[in-house]
Amino acid sequence: MNGKYNASKLALSLIKDEMTIGIGSGSTVEVFLNLLGEKIKREGLKIYGIPSSYQAMLAGARNGLIITDLIDREPDLCVDGADQVDNKLNCIKGGGAALTREKILAFASKKVIILVEDSKLTDKLSMPVPVEVLPFAYGYVMRRISKICKPRLREGKGKVGPIITDNGNFILDCDFGVIEAPEEVEKELKSISGVVENGIFSSKLITGVIVGNNSSAKLLKL
Ligand code: A5P
Repeated sequence: MNGKYNASKLALSLIKDEMTIGIGSGSTVEVFLNLLGEKIKREGLKIYGIPSSYQAMLAGARNGLIITDLIDREPDLCVDGADQVDNKLNCIKGGGAALTREKILAFASKKVIILVEDSKLTDKLSMPVPVEVLPFAYGYVMRRISKICKPRLREGKGKVGPIITDNGNFILDCDFGVIEAPEEVEKELKSISGVVENGIFSSKLITGVIVGNNSSAKLLKL
């Protein structure tokens, strides 16, 4: 069994009947939802899900979650993946371009659990930070952000031109090299007009990280 499966299996034990879950996006969350779907069927559970993307909405519905939104409910628990996790449990997210809704769900949730394979763990964050940008502000944001990092407009696959997020925006992948102070970078990015959100998720938002490998999984907490 792989790390995504083992991490998801451990996360299943946190799910109780009548819970509302914030559904993150990505392939790890999809593995988790498939397992949750089996549990829902087996135990006859009623689980509400607030999705962070169309992918999460479709996978949630396919697996028997009752899809709802933040108008109706707030999540007891948010389950999400990450692209990189540092030794203080700060994360970079947004490889699937769903970072804005994922961050909103993380803020709205009582608890946030991140599921990753052990290959995502690192001492310090270093991968490019996804930044969601309003298309109208693209030129301005590019010039402004180039003073602090190397940005690259994310291109689509199966579509020409830039990818368009579920919110109708562009993504810039912003290379800062090794990030010594993630919260500072997060704040600075947020302060640029036209930036909708960025993919640095401070450990303050995160209750725990479940790390899976080929044989087992464990929960990391600060
Ligand atoms: C989606 O925008 C991301 O934040 C994902 O949660 C992240 O990219 C992890 O994806 P995988 O589980 O597919 O690695």
